[in-house]
Formats: sequence, structure tokens, C-alpha cells
Amino acid sequence: MKGRVLMNGEEKRTANGPLTRLIADGPAVTHRKRRRETLMPDQWPDESPGTGKLIQTETETASPVALGTPVPLAKVLSAGASRLDAIARGEPFESEIHAEFAQETPILEIDHFSLSYGPKQVLFNISMIIPRGKVTAIIGPSGCGKSTLIRCINRMNDLIESVRIEGDIRLDGTSVFDPAVDVTEIRKRAGMVFQKPNPFPMSIFENVVYPLRIQGVRDRRVLAEVCERSLRAAALWDEVKDNLHQNAMQLSGGQQQRLCIARALAGDPEVLLLDEPCSALDPIATNKIEDLIRELAGTYTIVIVTHNMQQAARISDFTALLYLGRLIEYGPTRRIFSAPHLPETEAYVTGRFG
Ligand SMILES: Nc1ncnc2c1ncn2[C@@H]1O[C@H](COP(=O)(O)OP(=O)(O)OP(=O)(O)O)[C@@H](O)[C@H]1O
Ligand SMILES: [Mg+2]
Repeated sequence: MKGRVLMNGEEKRTANGPLTRLIADGPAVTHRKRRRETLMPDQWPDESPGTGKLIQTETETASPVALGTPVPLAKVLSAGASRLDAIARGEPFESEIHAEFAQETPILEIDHFSLSYGPKQVLFNISMIIPRGKVTAIIGPSGCGKSTLIRCINRMNDLIESVRIEGDIRLDGTSVFDPAVDVTEIRKRAGMVFQKPNPFPMSIFENVVYPLRIQGVRDRRVLAEVCERSLRAAALWDEVKDNLHQNAMQLSGGQQQRLCIARALAGDPEVLLLDEPCSALDPIATNKIEDLIRELAGTYTIVIVTHNMQQAARISDFTALLYLGRLIEYGPTRRIFSAPHLPETEAYVTGRFG
């Protein structure tokens, strides 16, 4: 496949599409954990890693393939087995990046990015852009590094002593790892919402305006305006406007999750990072969050990790499949679910492995 992509605003061509070939070669920068930083409250880690489950669902658009008990991918795919075996052996692998990214403006550039927890490497030379104003879904089997990757975007992994990284992630052209960067600011610009809603044991109002409080904003009028605007944007205002001083812990799970989104929006982010935001919610609450994501797209760039293939197909513009810490295939969602380039991707989105 021939492709064109924009990196750093510069158009480059590739013989066969993989973005990994496109980013300027240069010495990889190794960033070691430097110091503990103040976290935005909605970015406090609340989950132990590796707890998600693959929910196998038939996709709406994929070819009809019978679902069965998940088995290792290499065992079910003769065509792709050697490639996956090679990945498992740690041999180099080139991501399959679709040409459509040439028409997109990147807000985030993930550039030859690798990460290890102590001696264990979990992300391998990932290069991809996140298009501005679009919804990008990250899918892949449990433990493949989805949460690790999105937590790097706003430096959440700084909290883990053993983390070592190579490569770079740029937000609007500036490295998020630049020593001159204010980490609190990065976490405001790339707000995060976790799998399990994590409201603070305080009122709804104080939860929403927390990002302003820690900036020292005291003006009641400003706080009230931001609270209402954020709750409206998170589609929660009508349900809570008469009870803003009620403790947020009394809200339902779905309301709590929208409250966490409102809190992230109050920080005026450019990017919203959602790590399985619906996995603890019932179908009605899930629908509300999905509708909300579609409404917020355009104004915000959204990156969502999900195990729900139907959800990825419904709400995202682009989908990236990770496997064993590698970016396998990345393209427009409709292509990934209906005509992926790689047999491995088709096997995953049709539930044949995980
Ligand atoms: N703090 C940590 N210390 C050591 N290893 C970690 C840490 N966090 C994650 N890992 C390991 O890194 C790998 C990737 O984990 P990560 O949580 O990013 O996967 P994931 O794709 O989000 O999985 P899931 O779908 O289950 O949420 C796993 O092998 C996990 O055990
Ligand atoms: Mg995860």
C-alpha cells in the first residue's frame, strides 16, 4: 500500500505505508522517571493494570465468522501465524498504517515510542498520529499495553518508579516529556477518565470545579459558569442542577462517569483520554456516554480504549489494534471493521482471538 502522512506538519511518502518508516531517524531520547508531579484529581490512578476482559461481540460490519473460545492467534491463523510468531519472538514488526491519515491534522504524534516497566518491555516502537477533533479507538487483547500507551500521553506513568521510555509523544508539536513542560498543564490539556468512575467525596459542584480550585480560582461567578457549562457538555446538567451541593458519591455509576467527564472538561482540555469508560456501566448509561462522545468529537479530540468491538465501530473515526505492545494496524474504523489489510486484524475484530 502506498501512503502519505503528515508528521510535524510535513508531508512524507512511504513505499508501503507503515508510519514507522516515516518519522525522521534520529537518536531515540530516553526519558527516565524524574520526580513525582502533582496530578489533576481526575487523573489519579484508580485501577490496577490488566483487569479488563475481552468482551467478544459480533461486529456490525465485519464478515460473518463464527465466534468461539478465544485461542492464541498464532494457532488460528495460518496466513498470519508466522508474523505473530515473529512478534512473540521479539523480531521487528512494521505497523500497517492506512493512507487516510494523510488527510488528517495530527494533534498528537506518537513517535518511535517504547516503554518498559523495570526489565519488562510492554510497548515496542509505536508510531502513530492521533487526528485532531476525531475519535480514535484503541483496541487489543488484555495486557497488550492500551492503558499504558494512553497514560503516557499525559504523563500518568511518571508515578511509576520503574518506568523507562524511549521515543517521543508530541502534543501540538511539543514533546510532553520536555523538561520545560508543566506536567499539571499537560494533564489539563489531555484530561483522563478511567474505567471506574472516581468522583471525590465532595459535592457535585466541588468535583466539577476542582481543576479551577487547584489553579487558585476563587471567583464564585466564574466557578458557577464553568460548573454549568461543563455539566451541560457532559449531558448531566438537567439531572443534577437542583442538587449541586449533594455529595457526588450518591450519584449512580453512569452519572458519576459523566461527572468525571465534566470534571475533565472543566480543565478546558484539548484531548480527552477515556480508558474503558463504559465497562462498569449498564447499557442505558453506556448509550449516554457514547452519545456524549459523539457530541464532544470535533470540539475535542477523543482517544478511547475499549474492549467492546461494537462500541469502537459505532463511535470512533479511527481504530488502532495493539497486540503484545505493538501497533498492528491503524486506519479508518469502517475499514478496520469491514476490510482490514491484515488477517490478524480481521481475526481480532471478529472475535477469533483475544
Ligand atoms: N505498574 C506496572 N508495573 C509493572 N507492569 C505493569 C504495570 N502496569 C501495567 N503493567 C504490565 O504492562 C502490560 C500492559 O498493561 P496495560 O494495563 O497497559 O494493558 P491493557 O492493554 O490496558 O490491558 P487491559 O485490557 O486488561 O486493561 C501488562 O503486562 C501489565 O501487566
Ligand atoms: Mg487497560
